[in-house]
Amino acid sequence: MSFKGRIDGVGKADSGVLRKNGRDFSVEHLFDSDFSRKMDEKLRYCYENFDKIVADSLDVPKTALAEMPRNIKFLSRLLTYARNELRLDYMNDNRNLSAYAMYFQWWNIFRLGPLFARLDDSFFAPLEKNPVIFDGGSGPLTVPIALFFARPDLRKKPLTFYCVDRSRSVLALGESLLLSIQAKSGITADWKIVRVCDDFFTVKLRQQAGMVFCANALTEREHKQNPVGSLLENAVQDCSVFVVEPGTPVSSKLLVKMRDVFAGRGFFPHWPCPTCKKCPKQIVTHQKWCHFTLDVEKNAPEGLRKISVAAGLQKEKASVSFLAMSKVRPREDDTLLSVRVFSDVLRLSQGQCGRYGCSSAGLILLMGKEVPNLQNGDLLTFSAADCKNLPRDEKSGALILSLS
Ligand SMILES: C[S@@+](CC[C@H](N)C(=O)[O-])C[C@H]1O[C@@H](n2cnc3c(N)ncnc32)[C@H](O)[C@@H]1O
Repeated sequence: MSFKGRIDGVGKADSGVLRKNGRDFSVEHLFDSDFSRKMDEKLRYCYENFDKIVADSLDVPKTALAEMPRNIKFLSRLLTYARNELRLDYMNDNRNLSAYAMYFQWWNIFRLGPLFARLDDSFFAPLEKNPVIFDGGSGPLTVPIALFFARPDLRKKPLTFYCVDRSRSVLALGESLLLSIQAKSGITADWKIVRVCDDFFTVKLRQQAGMVFCANALTEREHKQNPVGSLLENAVQDCSVFVVEPGTPVSSKLLVKMRDVFAGRGFFPHWPCPTCKKCPKQIVTHQKWCHFTLDVEKNAPEGLRKISVAAGLQKEKASVSFLAMSKVRPREDDTLLSVRVFSDVLRLSQGQCGRYGCSSAGLILLMGKEVPNLQNGDLLTFSAADCKNLPRDEKSGALILSLS
């Protein structure tokens, strides 16, 4: 069995805590859950009152605001279990548009911001030569807005965003939201937004992008096209790509497949994978799915939690599945073993707790008293010498790594 630990190309390091309890390991969190607390006060106000920015931009009358929870619930049904009823142009309907921005977009910014804040600077390196971003299925510009909130370093760069969506009105709303946030916060970005009303699978842009983003747009309905080929069509050879979807089994399966296709085109998994090897087979075959969760109670803006309760859609956790691929091979060290935790706590027999993680040695079942103290998404790094001859869990086939 060969071990490898990632020594770079993962998220920006934060808490390199070495636990001296049982087996030693260091921990690095996936999400920067403090990302909004680091914002300038006026900008934080915009993030925490995003519904007000939307209501102002769309000039939503008070009577329509009272109906918003019902509209949100209606749209949620269409976007989840009644997808066959979802019309292609659903974003052109005003009720859907405001419900999407006030609820879904806000949740998406809440999920993306803490990830974008943590993304390693090297992932953005292709923008130095090609300062162009292609955002497929941009909707109300969720990706540029989340980048604006989370990446002060990018605000100073003269970037061009090609925001592609089949709905003209949703793109117009997005640009007005971005401008409104800049006006209200007094913080500006040196960005040019190009709105492109087209199919992002077939669009031909005037410029090739250094970075490609696609957020929550691939599992909206079944696609026959190869998403990887289409996403790379408008990008330079050495681009970086960030694909993110809601953390569901369907989206995890799609991302695992896309990871292989990207690898076939010379891309390496930059994040969140702790290894460049193939995704452990058990993730796909044993009904486990690669997803990461953020604690809503601790981290979500109060207004977002309130509107969710009013719509009858309150949640304890917000989940996400994602893949950041780049052409730069991450450096690895075979004296280390890195494990990315991707499941919540499991209650096992004899009062034991476990969590699944992923590594260069395949699926790992972390066990022990320390397990509940970890966060979903944590990257644990062990000395490979401490991880020899691990037993296997019969049910899942995972190697068992006990922490204490
Ligand atoms: C669920 S929304 C996601 C919007 C935004 N990226 C976000 O994360 O909030 C999906 C968006 O993708 C657009 N969309 C889906 N498939 C598309 C396609 N093939 N071409 C262009 N737009 C598409 C829809 O119109 C919609 O605005």
